[in-house]
Amino acid sequence: MYLLITMKLKLIVLASMLLSLAMVSCGPADPDDVPVVKKEDTSIISVSTEMPPIVEHADNPLSRAGVELGRFLFYDKLLSENNSISCGSCHNQAMAFTDNNKVFSEGTVKQLGTRNSMPTFNLMWFDSLFWDSRAQRLKQLVLMPIENPLEMNTTPEQVVEKLKKLQDYKDKFRNAFGTEEITVEKMAMALEQFLKTIVSDNSRFDKAKRGELALTDLEKRGFELAGQKGCFNCHSTSLFTDNLSHNTGLDFVSNQGGQFKDNGLGGFTKIKNHEGKFKTPSLRNVALSSPYMHDGRFKTLEEVLEFYDEGVKSNLNSRNISFEFMQQGTLNKLTPQDTKALLAFLNSLTDYDLISNPKFSDPFQ
Ligand code: HEC
Ligand code: HEC
Repeated sequence: MYLLITMKLKLIVLASMLLSLAMVSCGPADPDDVPVVKKEDTSIISVSTEMPPIVEHADNPLSRAGVELGRFLFYDKLLSENNSISCGSCHNQAMAFTDNNKVFSEGTVKQLGTRNSMPTFNLMWFDSLFWDSRAQRLKQLVLMPIENPLEMNTTPEQVVEKLKKLQDYKDKFRNAFGTEEITVEKMAMALEQFLKTIVSDNSRFDKAKRGELALTDLEKRGFELAGQKGCFNCHSTSLFTDNLSHNTGLDFVSNQGGQFKDNGLGGFTKIKNHEGKFKTPSLRNVALSSPYMHDGRFKTLEEVLEFYDEGVKSNLNSRNISFEFMQQGTLNKLTPQDTKALLAFLNSLTDYDLISNPKFSDPFQ
């Protein structure tokens, strides 16, 4: 009798184990039916072979419903003080997620920021974020624009109160996280999930790398030149950035008590020799993201090249970029043909799929 019961029990245990295994391996048939995803569903992100591997976050596994919620939050003006702007207002998909050719962005009551808006693609691979690297993780970063008085000028708690009044958001949070409860943490997680999916890897340059097309001779020449001139020392890897901070000699600042207008990394770390250093931006999609540099001082890529060619100034923290440029602080006089080639190469990094992909677009439009 006793034996029979234990055997029965064992069978039940075995059966339920098999059942749960089957549930795990089948995965959600309809993403909206099964809200809690235990393991990261990396199939949501598509990344081609030339890019680094997908970065997984055990504390915030991707799910379709989470990403979709993040997309709604990214484009929802409710995230700002007076419901006037969304993340997407300053990160426009058509401009590679930058702010509509503006030097500085306008906040909720048209107050001006102090730095040029940055693109928001390929960010899962970066562990230093913002021009001054003051954020290390997207989940942490996404709450900062909400609180920034020059941007959305509210608090994440106030935003959560607004979201809680909407059944549609309750449903979306339940689909993404298993319960209707809306919290600051979950809002940040959903935004991180959405941002992680914004990958740019389908420019002409990428297609050529994958053997899908051939670059023109001018584009190839530009790529070669960029290598010879040292551009890839900092704009390196398939992300076209080393994700480190440098001072490129935009301004002359004297060794004798001179001050940078914006201390960049040094403003965050409070370390003297970090002053005036800024994160290397990616060269991907630069043709779409004018103006350039942390303060948006250059309107065109021609102006940027002109700066590298003859405008680099030495200052207390500028790296000796003359080493890369083979001649004292300059590109060694680019010929007009060189400039054309470099521009052609930079343009070959434009990814038209990024700016037209409906997965990244504004769901309120
Ligand atoms: C008023 C305009 C504005 C709004 C609104 C705004 N941003 Fe930004 N964003 C900027 C600017 C300007 C920067 C650069 C700031 C800096 O480096 O100090 C930036 C930087 C970023 C970066 C850093 C990218 C990198 O490469 O390091 C991310 C990510 C980002 N924003 C996401 C968001 C999200 C998510 C929201 C909404 C919650 C948002 N932004 C709202 C203007 C804005
Ligand atoms: C020493 C590292 C370094 C080298 C070498 C370098 N860059 Fe940069 N580049 C940076 C940094 C850092 C910035 C941002 C500077 C700032 O805003 O203060 C930048 C900005 C840019 C921008 C503007 C991007 C944007 O989104 O605003 C372009 C375009 C650019 N560089 C192209 C080039 C080219 C082309 C070369 C080679 C001729 C080159 N860079 C060499 C580090 C470097």
